[in-house]
Amino acid sequence: MAITADSIRDQQRLTWDRFAAGWKKWDAELIAWHRPFGEAVIEDARLRPDSVVLDVAAGSGEPGLTVAALVPGVQVVLADISAGMLQVAEEKAAAQGLGNVRFSVCAAADLPFDDGTFDAVLCRFGFMFFPEMRAALREMVRTVKPGGRVSAAVWGRPAENPWASLVLGTLAHHTELPRPPAGTPGLFRCSAPGFMTRLFKEAGLVEVTERSVSTDLVHSSPDSYWEFMEDIATTMAAGLANADQHARSLIRSDVFQMLGRYEHQGALRLRSTATIVAGTRV
Ligand SMILES: C[S@@+](CC[C@H](N)C(=O)[O-])C[C@H]1O[C@@H](n2cnc3c(N)ncnc32)[C@H](O)[C@@H]1O
Repeated sequence: MAITADSIRDQQRLTWDRFAAGWKKWDAELIAWHRPFGEAVIEDARLRPDSVVLDVAAGSGEPGLTVAALVPGVQVVLADISAGMLQVAEEKAAAQGLGNVRFSVCAAADLPFDDGTFDAVLCRFGFMFFPEMRAALREMVRTVKPGGRVSAAVWGRPAENPWASLVLGTLAHHTELPRPPAGTPGLFRCSAPGFMTRLFKEAGLVEVTERSVSTDLVHSSPDSYWEFMEDIATTMAAGLANADQHARSLIRSDVFQMLGRYEHQGALRLRSTATIVAGTRV
């Protein structure tokens, strides 16, 4: 079957619907791990107490729910292609009693909002999964007001992200992974320094800034790390699905062995680095 933007979007929708239960199960860990990235995205969006904010590819709710809880005067719309992921966000918003959040199931490249609706558009760890990153960014720029900000996070280079590159590198070693065609989703697709800045400038954004933010993914044991990855990491699951039983157990034991390098003060600490990019609509 030919790979088209529509087929990638359908695949993403199905995959993330399937992983929604995992993101719900590990919500507290994901929130703690990703907090520094969300804070940077929010900071660079330069929100005001009455901002109207769109969070694209909000998944299980971040960073939009943090904004809604921090600033009661803001209005937040969480948008995502996966109804399953947004359902998790909706349950969390209800549990927190947040009355200033709305939800929209839609694709990033086809946002169902009028021109200039929002004061800021956020997007944490979404771009890598969009079949047409430029079309998605065009929609973000269209829906933000003149003077408003688009602020996003994408994963940095593999060497700065052993939390994922450890498994993906081991997978590549043990399986014949077909080289993904250019333009298809991949965790490190946006990781080259300056890549996102170019994209933002080409989309007409000004005052474009790009910076790196790092933290650690912390787990108490290799078993806990592996279970977490199996539950939340869609790219690892796609790779493991291509491996037979024998290759899978080799991959697991190789990863467990290499994890020894990341033990520090009784816990596993795996470096995690994101690029934060933001720009202003003219
Ligand atoms: C890694 S999760 C990020 C969730 C959240 N922003 C966070 O940082 O915790 C990626 C999200 O992108 C969404 N996604 C993938 N392709 C999309 C598309 N074309 N349009 C909108 N959302 C998409 C997925 O459904 C998933 O919820």
